[in-house]
Amino acid sequence: MNTLAVVGLQWGDEGKGKIIDLLSKDQDYVVRAQGGHNAGHSVIAEKREYHFHLIPSGILYENVVCYIGAGTVIDPASLLIEIQNLQNQGIDLKNRLKISPYAHVIFPYHRRLDQLQEKGEIHLGTTGRGIGPCYEDAVARRGIRIGEWIDPTTFKKRLQPLVALKNRIFQQYDEAEIDSNALFEEYEIFAKELSPFVESFEDHLDQEILKGKKILFEGAQGALLDIHFGTYPFVTSSSTSSSGLAVGAGVGPSRIQKTMGVTKAYTTRVGNGPFPTEFSQDELSLFASHEIAREFGTTTGRKRRLGWLDIPLLKEAIRINGATSLALTKIDVLDSLDFIKICVGYENVSRPPVFHGEWSNIKPQFETFHGWKKSTKEIKKVEEFPKNVRIFVNRIESLLNCPIEIVSLGPERESAVFLK
Ligand code: GDP
Ligand code: IMO
Ligand code: MG
Repeated sequence: MNTLAVVGLQWGDEGKGKIIDLLSKDQDYVVRAQGGHNAGHSVIAEKREYHFHLIPSGILYENVVCYIGAGTVIDPASLLIEIQNLQNQGIDLKNRLKISPYAHVIFPYHRRLDQLQEKGEIHLGTTGRGIGPCYEDAVARRGIRIGEWIDPTTFKKRLQPLVALKNRIFQQYDEAEIDSNALFEEYEIFAKELSPFVESFEDHLDQEILKGKKILFEGAQGALLDIHFGTYPFVTSSSTSSSGLAVGAGVGPSRIQKTMGVTKAYTTRVGNGPFPTEFSQDELSLFASHEIAREFGTTTGRKRRLGWLDIPLLKEAIRINGATSLALTKIDVLDSLDFIKICVGYENVSRPPVFHGEWSNIKPQFETFHGWKKSTKEIKKVEEFPKNVRIFVNRIESLLNCPIEIVSLGPERESAVFLK
């Protein structure tokens, strides 16, 4: 087998898109299987910048076939825009993009419910894209799947009782009700446009894996946003791990041979929830600006919260994923710092807490490193690393007890060094 999952080890936005693009050159397939257009994966290739929300980041290579799996939730309007944008840029998607009929459809009422729920007691800071409410319908066994949606008769039959249910909720919020017929008409047009891409590929994928074809499973979000093991309730609504990728792609766990975990050299989070190593105002003022660090949300444009690397959380993330190697990104963002810190443990506790209420007691313990005060952007070989970069990278590797395979030194495809 020749399969690899690439997953996020933090609160998302680790640079997965950049790493997946880098590794996609030699792949036969790249498969997304979790989340929806809450994800935003950036790739800079041949001086062009791309942002993928649902389309796998391997799409830029003509040889790669891309699959969007059963575990995802799909907003047809958003996906059609992504498809159109790529086609406008001359990227041919014919026979190169397939969507699983098992995936669930996000409707405008999911988006409205997401936004209404955010006004309630717990403000999670979601992307407001309807992700949570769509997964709620899926788990409650009343959602509409892509395969049902592209059949107009089934779609109409399934939509009416659902709209009635949602309208009862909108009444409680004193909100305008949905017109089922208008929604049907609008979404029937989208269904016609997307239906050429819909095909159950799970069986074929399994056969291709067994033939030794190269398959890359593209993770979305990150381990700390995982519905089970993340900083609940400030998480997303899917399983963001390598195991979640297997479930979402419709293959058994034994079909994922290796898992590469991606982490920044520091930590970011967009949205609310605990963040033990978050910068103080002073630290923030000494750090690279949000613009230089490219730390604005790819999907919502929000400023990402910033902090130091957190080893206890990364150890959990590596365990949850069974990560076999690491990609360390954004080393170049630290180029101008005098000192860099890494959280190596927490005071009085041996591991991160389970319950939300316990996070406020967490006090990080830091190790401090001298910066290298040099640009690392042009580095092409490990021998060119300044001494302090080597010390920093080696320490992270030994603390995490997992080999670092790639160090990324810039957003562009070519700004990376393979270590192993
Ligand atoms: P993803 O969701 O994990 O794919 O990450 P995003 O694309 O949302 O956010 C990562 C941001 O950092 C994007 O703007 C990338 O272009 C950028 N990026 C990725 N790797 C590097 C790196 O090594 N250095 C710098 N400076 N930027 C990077
Ligand atoms: P990628 O794949 C960063 C966060 C949201 C919010 C929480 C729940 O680009 O790394 P949701 O809309 O999913 O219900 O929001 O999860 N979130 C992400 N943060 N990167 C992502 O994806 C994210 N997807 C969801 O900001 O805190
Ligand atoms: Mg992102």
